[in-house]
Amino acid sequence: MSPRLRFALIGCGDFGTGFGRYALAVADIVALCDPQLDRAEAAANELGLQAATYTDYRELLAHEELDAVLITAANFVHAEITIAAAEAGVHVYCEKAMARTVPECWQMVRACQQSNVKLMVGHKRRLRPPWARMIELTRDEFLGKPLSITVAQYTDMRPYHMYETWWADPELSGGALARLGVHVVDWFGAMCGPASRVWGLYGPQNDSRWPTPDVINATFEFSSGALASLNSSSLFPVHAFRQAQGPIGQCEHGGFKLNPQMKYIDLYWQRDDEAQLHHERFDDLGFDHAFRLEISDFARWILEDRQPCLTWVEGLRCVEMMEAVYRSAEKGGLPVDLPLYPELEQPSKL
Ligand SMILES: NC(=O)c1ccc[n+]([C@@H]2O[C@H](COP(=O)([O-])OP(=O)(O)OC[C@H]3O[C@@H](n4cnc5c(N)ncnc54)[C@H](O)[C@@H]3O)[C@@H](O)[C@H]2O)c1
Repeated sequence: MSPRLRFALIGCGDFGTGFGRYALAVADIVALCDPQLDRAEAAANELGLQAATYTDYRELLAHEELDAVLITAANFVHAEITIAAAEAGVHVYCEKAMARTVPECWQMVRACQQSNVKLMVGHKRRLRPPWARMIELTRDEFLGKPLSITVAQYTDMRPYHMYETWWADPELSGGALARLGVHVVDWFGAMCGPASRVWGLYGPQNDSRWPTPDVINATFEFSSGALASLNSSSLFPVHAFRQAQGPIGQCEHGGFKLNPQMKYIDLYWQRDDEAQLHHERFDDLGFDHAFRLEISDFARWILEDRQPCLTWVEGLRCVEMMEAVYRSAEKGGLPVDLPLYPELEQPSKL
C-alpha cells in the first residue's frame, strides 16, 4: 500500500478550507498556516483536524515533516511560499493564478527544479466535465481544431465585496484578469495550444472603487492560427454568477455553444455534415471531479512519478497570456508577441 502523504495547507481564506477537503482524500493535512491565526484554526476545526497551526509559513516549514504544501493563499505570496517550500525539499501544489508576473513564475520553476521537487498549478476549469468535453470535441472525429472562440465573461463581482481586499490591487493580485478571466484564459490554451500573439483593450471605467479596469477585451492568436476572444466585465447584473461566461466556437467541421446555468450546464454542438444538433446536459457542474482529479494526480505524481493532468507549464502560460493582455492594453491595443520574456525561456523539464 502507498504511504499516506503529509501535506500542509497554506492559506485558509475562502478557498483553502474547501480545497483541504479534497486533499484529505489523498493525504493527511498535518499543519495549516494563515497570518490570521483564527482562519487557520477555523479551517482545522472545519476539516476535523488535530493539526498544528502557524501564522508564518517559514516556521511551519522549519518544524514540520512534510511531503508537500498546498498553497491556497493570496496570489501575492504564491512565489515566495513556493520558493521557500522548494528550498525545504517539499513538493508544491499552488492555486491559480500561479503568480503575479511571468518572471515570478520562472523563479518558482527554477527553485523547484533546483531542489528536484514537483510543482503543479491548479487550473480546475479545463478539467470540469463540460469544459473538458469541449476540448474533446476538438478531435477530428467530432468538430476538429478550433478556428475561433468567443467568451463573454460578464459577471457581477459587486456582491463579493472584494474592493477592500488584495483582489482589487493589481500589485497583489496580478491584475483584473486574475480575478475574472483566469479560468477562461487557461481553457483557451487547453483548446487551442500555444498562444503566439495577444491584443488587449480596456473599456470605460464605471466603478471607481476598482483600481483595475471594469471591462477588458482580449484577443489571442494561437500558433495553429485559431483566434479566441474574451470580453470580461465585472459589473454585469443580469445573470447569476455561473450563468455568465459561456463560450461559443467555430471549429473545422462544425460549431459548439455552452450554456451554463446555476445548477446544470447545456452543451450544444453540430458537425457541418450532420443534420442533427447534439445536446448534452451536465447536471453535475463538475467541481468535485475537477478538484479530485487535480489533487489525486498530484499525489500520484509524488508517489509514482506518474505524468499528471497539470504541471506548472499551464500556470506559467496562463500568467503570460494575462500579462500580455495588460501590456497590449497599456500600449493602446498594439499586438504583443509571445513568449513575453524570451530570455527566461528554458527547456521545460517537469
Ligand atoms: N481554483 C479555483 O476555483 C479557485 C477559487 C477561488 C480561489 N482560488 C485561489 O485560491 C487562492 C486564495 O483565494 P481566496 O478566495 O481563498 O482568497 P482569500 O482572500 O479569501 O484568502 C487568502 C488567504 O491567504 C492568506 N495569506 C496571505 N498571506 C499569507 C501568507 N504569507 N501565508 C499564508 N497565508 C497567507 C490570507 O490571510 C487569506 O486568509 C487564490 O490564489 C485564488 O486565485 C482558486
